[in-house]
Amino acid sequence: MPDPNLPIGTEKAAFVKEMFDTISPNYDKLNRIMTFSLDQNWRRQTLRSLELPAKALILDLACGTGDFVKLARHEGYRCVGTDFSFGMISHSQLSDDLVVSDALDLSFKNDSFDGVTCGFALRNFTELPPVFQELARVLNSGGRIALLEVARPQSLVMRAGHGIYFNRIVPFIGGLLSDKKAYSYLPASVSYLPPPASIIELLVKTGFYNVSHKLLTSGAAQLFTATKA
Ligand SMILES: C[S@@+](CC[C@H](N)C(=O)[O-])C[C@H]1O[C@@H](n2cnc3c(N)ncnc32)[C@H](O)[C@@H]1O
Repeated sequence: MPDPNLPIGTEKAAFVKEMFDTISPNYDKLNRIMTFSLDQNWRRQTLRSLELPAKALILDLACGTGDFVKLARHEGYRCVGTDFSFGMISHSQLSDDLVVSDALDLSFKNDSFDGVTCGFALRNFTELPPVFQELARVLNSGGRIALLEVARPQSLVMRAGHGIYFNRIVPFIGGLLSDKKAYSYLPASVSYLPPPASIIELLVKTGFYNVSHKLLTSGAAQLFTATKA
């Protein structure tokens, strides 16, 4: 259940957009510091889990400042990114190649992409069913998705250490280098995430098959992959 102090619905969408606009200038730097650069390894694993041939056309949903787009191109894919925060896009070196649009109502035609990646955004969407429907709509038949998110480690010791780091140290460093409110929201927003089994069920209901869920780095992150029927 989401923390009752967190916004929902249209209030959440407006809050999230404004927050990412605000933190966009230092977003990349803070990501690297706070994940000890593990975020780039997770993105690479996400891209490889698509198992698509070179030159496949990928959409990176909620692309932020374009980290996935850069890596995807480096891996030999063609890639377009989209995000609803103009601030995040305008702080990207690739801003000309990124499109402003909302994940719940994407501005792309049906059957346009071979694959979709999405990093650390599931918990920021107001609802998951319409986003998954949009992914199914813009993907070619047989298209692949790879959705990366944060997670809570399962082992009690790791969970305790991760909790202190994520809930106390991240907001502290975020407050020093960027915006304390935003970097307090980011760990708290994990409570929006449904359990993995519910996300898997929703993907299957939306028409995806071959759905899999994998924990990364002892459960600090998680990756869902699936194929469009
Ligand atoms: C934590 S950031 C992740 C950015 C990027 N994917 C990465 O790997 O660094 C979450 C992103 O989701 C975007 N976002 C949230 N809700 C969205 C929506 N409804 N439509 C499009 N983008 C959205 C935010 O603007 C933000 O850039």
